[in-house]
Amino acid sequence: MSRDELLEANVNIIKPVTEEAVKFSPNAMLLVVTNPLDAMVYTAFKVSKFPKNRVFGMAGILDTTRFRAFISIELNISVENIQALVLGGHGDTMVPIARYTTVAGIPLTHFLRPDRIDAIIERTRKGGGEIVKYLKTGSAYYAPSLAVAEMVESIVKDKKKILPCSAYLEGEYGINDLYFGVPIKLGAGGVEEIIKIELTDQEKEAIKNSEAAVRNVVDLIKL
Ligand code: LAC
Repeated sequence: MSRDELLEANVNIIKPVTEEAVKFSPNAMLLVVTNPLDAMVYTAFKVSKFPKNRVFGMAGILDTTRFRAFISIELNISVENIQALVLGGHGDTMVPIARYTTVAGIPLTHFLRPDRIDAIIERTRKGGGEIVKYLKTGSAYYAPSLAVAEMVESIVKDKKKILPCSAYLEGEYGINDLYFGVPIKLGAGGVEEIIKIELTDQEKEAIKNSEAAVRNVVDLIKL
């Protein structure tokens, strides 16, 4: 199946599912878990015509969890000590932000040389494929499920957790009319706030590269 056919197949699944959701649950929130991700959340947003706060996607928590796990393995330190942030589209252009990654509050750069950080970033970008290689069929399910559960709990219990999720941007991070992985406040109102963080020029370049990759897929979608 070609990339375009795969994308068309995905759209042909998410469109009717979204239409059913709108018909039977007009006040629902749509938490999208697909691959490709950001383009599918965009599709659900456009098809549902729901407000942007009620349509969002799961990917950043999964990618951040992998980034944290790989750092934990490298340092032989509990993953619970590691706070991290992965932004951008879900895929090879995702942007793990090492500068915002800490181990017990201590910057990651205290523990790891740049080349080791780069190697872990690369492994994180390929994390989905690594799991598929081990599973031989299907794709990851355990970590994505935990990530979805964390998002649902933050909504249902109105925890207002700051989580990396695919949210609709209207100028934030210099990005317009696109779903993209950014830190958000997630509570009873869904996406309650887009958290805007300072980025270096190099990080901004990586975000631009990821934005282009997501937009390339979105531009192929015929709604
Ligand atoms: C992964 C799939 C869920 O990253 O996209 O494992």
